[in-house]
Amino acid sequence: MASPVKPLTQPAAAPATRAKSGTDLIRIEGGEALNGDIGISGAKNSALILMCAALLTEDTMRFTNMPTTLRDIATLTKVLESLGATIATGPEGTMAIQARNIKSTKADYDLVKEMRASFLVMGPLLTRFKEATVSMPGGCAIGTRPIDFHLMGFEAMGAQITLEEGYVRVTAPGGLKGADITFPRVSVGATENIMMAAALASGVTHIFNAACEPEIVDLGRCLIAMGAKIEGLGTSTITVTGVPSLRGAMHQVVADRIETGTYMIAVAMAGGKVRLKNASAEHLQALVGPLKTAGVRIEEDDGDVIVERAGPLKEGTNIVTEVHPGFPTDLQAQFMTLLTQCRNGGTITETIWENRFMHVPELARMGAKIAIDGNTATIAGAQNLTGARVMATDLRASAALVLAALVAKGTTTIDRIYHLDRGYENLEVKLKACGAKIERIPAGAP
Ligand code: UD1
Repeated sequence: MASPVKPLTQPAAAPATRAKSGTDLIRIEGGEALNGDIGISGAKNSALILMCAALLTEDTMRFTNMPTTLRDIATLTKVLESLGATIATGPEGTMAIQARNIKSTKADYDLVKEMRASFLVMGPLLTRFKEATVSMPGGCAIGTRPIDFHLMGFEAMGAQITLEEGYVRVTAPGGLKGADITFPRVSVGATENIMMAAALASGVTHIFNAACEPEIVDLGRCLIAMGAKIEGLGTSTITVTGVPSLRGAMHQVVADRIETGTYMIAVAMAGGKVRLKNASAEHLQALVGPLKTAGVRIEEDDGDVIVERAGPLKEGTNIVTEVHPGFPTDLQAQFMTLLTQCRNGGTITETIWENRFMHVPELARMGAKIAIDGNTATIAGAQNLTGARVMATDLRASAALVLAALVAKGTTTIDRIYHLDRGYENLEVKLKACGAKIERIPAGAP
């Protein structure tokens, strides 16, 4: 029998670096090179789904390398606790979740509106408890972000779906049944939701045109450790053979490839040499190529990645965001700031989200020259950026502004830092340790 969750050292709580009122600022004095070590955290986009997967078992799930201080993790902690799960965090990214005594299968608007990933509780709740009611999701304002593929998959598995006052209610009184599901386009979230639902369904589910992002593979590995039967991870066809129940397991969250990529671009822009610890460039080949073209040296060394730029920045590369292993949409904004510094600039075509150039007007305030035509941005190179007061608009856009500020002349103050706190652990601490002149100004400080 599973042991109840023992608090490790403290209950999951507001992280130390979290914005108190959402109005913390970050102030950066540009012009310093980066030299030193940066520890890479566990992947946010993996961690959130793994937490949802804990709803699939009565037993305790134990995670390591969880980015426990992120605001998104705190938000999902509240969602899971509202359902009746018990969550405890410990030092160095340990987290234990027990979902034995689930008292509700309804995820409320107030919590779900904060973050789209909350919608991923639907698959686990539906398959284990035969019903779930989840508010339509919110999250970053980077597009319409529909959920039709998720619902199409549940329906194919025998679920009834109703929409009631902003909530999606799904029921499957006889339990979910395996099905063949073909997604019209690759969706990370829908692939994850269906994988989790299929793990406890009766029969076999084939997911065609499945996502093959590293976070999908991480989820699959965790589910397999829990006793699930899954084949085809990392390919576009995933086969899940349902089992009657899943057990507790230990799982280490994969390193955050987007955080890794963001700091690679930071070094490319600011110059210097940084060792990114517990990181991998394996899943970042679409970024590594353009960085090398720009004159950056990248080397894997014993579980770390070393990034160095000694000479001047060279050519930019035109990029198109694509599903993995293409260029990740989550690094597009950061790469755009790099292109402002490359000799000849470049273009970025965004194919995943239609509204993901909100950082452009803010970068323009710092002197960047960027023209947008539909879903393509043309970025003029070799620009001298200057410090300004700017506003973060979404998670990755905030990171782009930090990167621009690192090379801008003078002081940049970035408002609405709560976006950054959703997805980067201790960003200002990590950059400061490498020589950046960066500080967080708490809300209300003079
Ligand atoms: C997407 C990105 C992911 C990124 C995250 C946050 C891809 C394939 N996915 O994941 O890398 O970390 O945003 O920026 O790059 N769609 C539908 N109906 C659905 C679900 C999705 O039409 O039910 C469409 C979306 O509008 C979008 C595309 O499919 O154009 C990919 O969406 P999806 O992968 O599901 O989004 P996320 O899981 O949020």
